Amino acid sequence: MKRIVLDVDTGVDDALALLLALRSPELTLEAVTTVAGNVAVETATRNTRLVLELAQAPKKLRVAKGAAQPLQRPLLTAAQVHGSDGLGNVTGVYPPPQHPLAGNEASDLLLELIAQYGKELTIVATGPMTNLARAAQREPERFRQVGEIVQMGGALQVRGNTSPVAEFNVYVDPEAAAVVLAAGVPLRLVPLDVTEQVILLRSELRRRALERDSTVFQFVREFTVLYFDFQQRMSGLNGGYLHDPTAVVAVIDPALFTWQPARVEVRTDEAERGRTVATPAADSPVQVATAVDAARVLELFCDRVCR
Ligand code: BDR
Ligand code: CA
Repeated sequence: MKRIVLDVDTGVDDALALLLALRSPELTLEAVTTVAGNVAVETATRNTRLVLELAQAPKKLRVAKGAAQPLQRPLLTAAQVHGSDGLGNVTGVYPPPQHPLAGNEASDLLLELIAQYGKELTIVATGPMTNLARAAQREPERFRQVGEIVQMGGALQVRGNTSPVAEFNVYVDPEAAAVVLAAGVPLRLVPLDVTEQVILLRSELRRRALERDSTVFQFVREFTVLYFDFQQRMSGLNGGYLHDPTAVVAVIDPALFTWQPARVEVRTDEAERGRTVATPAADSPVQVATAVDAARVLELFCDRVCR
């Protein structure tokens, strides 16, 4: 069993990552922290609590709200991808979620969990790295005690999805990404190079729904419609990329990926904002995923979430 905390900017694929984490017996979800990214942090927090409530997560699972802005820049959101409510514009019909909100700020809770669990704790981050960077800047020594960070982010050999060279999570807060990638902690980076190979097709959702359906799965099928429509317009896919769930799978079964130790530099100048450049380095605590068994990641995801 791995103890994890999820740091999310919920978001369609973050919501899918949350559901996957809740339904994975290999993981103990200790807490969820939220950050501004796909939507404002208030909305990301509301969405997180809504997903937990619908999935009947235990009320004692702590949710802590984090950074409302990147470290040094104004926030850029992704309403065109995720909907203005972050979940495909389908959440208006739900009453405000009752899942409790913890009193702590996200980066405080991250540091508290590191103090409590140290090397046993994995932080799985699927949004901009602002909360992690704030924790690292405030208490660098303690931050280095974390077991591992698994971060969805970056575009190494492939085109970016937010600029020609940059992936969204890194583009939104490149300074934070630079802090975290240089913090000297074990970190696995799960970039677009692998997440864009893991594609959930609409036809697969339909097929699974015929086999086994539930209230949560109906919600999944509703909140993914706009996300799939966007990706269909952009790339002709009849489905969508499972970016954030792929990072959760990287914790559950790292052997489904090929990992390369590397130093990763983050560009912060305007021309190349958010570009991630990886140079192989055997002594680096950072490893980047360079290949993935996409069929098995997809199967693991669907067996647990599409039902
Ligand atoms: C990442 O950006 C966000 O829009 C998604 O939730 C994912 O974390 C993909 O680039
Ligand atoms: Ca995300």
